[in-house]
Amino acid sequence: MSGRLEGKSCLITGAGSGMGRAATVRFAREGARVVACDLDLDAVRETVAMAEAAGGRALAVRADVSKESDVREAVKAGVKAHGRLDVLYNNAGIMPAGDHSVVDTDEAVWDKVLAVNVKGVYLVCKHGIPELLAAGGGSVINVASFVALLGCTVPQDAYTASKGALIALTKSLAVQFGPKRIRSNAICPGPIETPLLSAWLLKEPAEKAKRLNRIPMGRFGKSEDVVNLALYLASDESSWTNGAALVVDGGITSNYF
Ligand SMILES: NC(=O)c1ccc[n+]([C@@H]2O[C@H](COP(=O)([O-])OP(=O)(O)OC[C@H]3O[C@@H](n4cnc5c(N)ncnc54)[C@H](O)[C@@H]3O)[C@@H](O)[C@H]2O)c1
Repeated sequence: MSGRLEGKSCLITGAGSGMGRAATVRFAREGARVVACDLDLDAVRETVAMAEAAGGRALAVRADVSKESDVREAVKAGVKAHGRLDVLYNNAGIMPAGDHSVVDTDEAVWDKVLAVNVKGVYLVCKHGIPELLAAGGGSVINVASFVALLGCTVPQDAYTASKGALIALTKSLAVQFGPKRIRSNAICPGPIETPLLSAWLLKEPAEKAKRLNRIPMGRFGKSEDVVNLALYLASDESSWTNGAALVVDGGITSNYF
């Protein structure tokens, strides 16, 4: 039986950990040839080894998404290896500890978060979309967050602003490139058990309980919960889904009290 991404070439950023790693392995298992990019070359090589062990094909590329030369080279390497690009999965993102309220966040922290989370997506689109156009169309998937949709009393204002920007950018891309057969959609995950979240939240039982209490499904999300949606968006099954900000959050954003 052929996979849901047979014949597609997919560039995934932040592929060295968490949801990017899970997506690389799953996409490869579904027949995609993955260009797995990450700042951390050892980590992304490990991801590629996992994808290959699962019978898939993937290429490990070291790239800092906030640096134009890195992104340009990553796109080139992907096209050289796979002949084309069909999917840009903008997953890389950071949530540093110093990101808090606007009144007490250092300028350097603000700039760094916006550089990785927003400029990184701009750069991947700048260099990747011409390849999607050359392939006759494709799919752009931007990973935003549920925090872009509602306020939080424990602020991370740079992160929140960066994810809101991605939803707005996604809609602009959807309208510009929809007529050229490129659809663009955002995913808004709720809290997912990955290293990004575990590093600061899951170590504190009281903090964990406070957040679990807000999730109607009674558990944090798993990478696979998000990757299942990304798989739909990457595949032709989503051929009429464009400009959407799709929530995968166990019901958090529906929960008033
Ligand atoms: N985990 C959550 O609860 C959650 C919730 C909503 C949204 N998200 C978003 O989902 C995405 C993936 O998150 P995750 O939890 O899997 O994170 P993670 O920290 O487990 O993995 C992120 C990966 O991105 C890489 N990375 C960081 N900066 C980079 C850069 N400049 N260039 C290239 N790669 C870089 C890291 O090396 C790491 O491998 C992020 O955009 C994050 O903001 C996460």
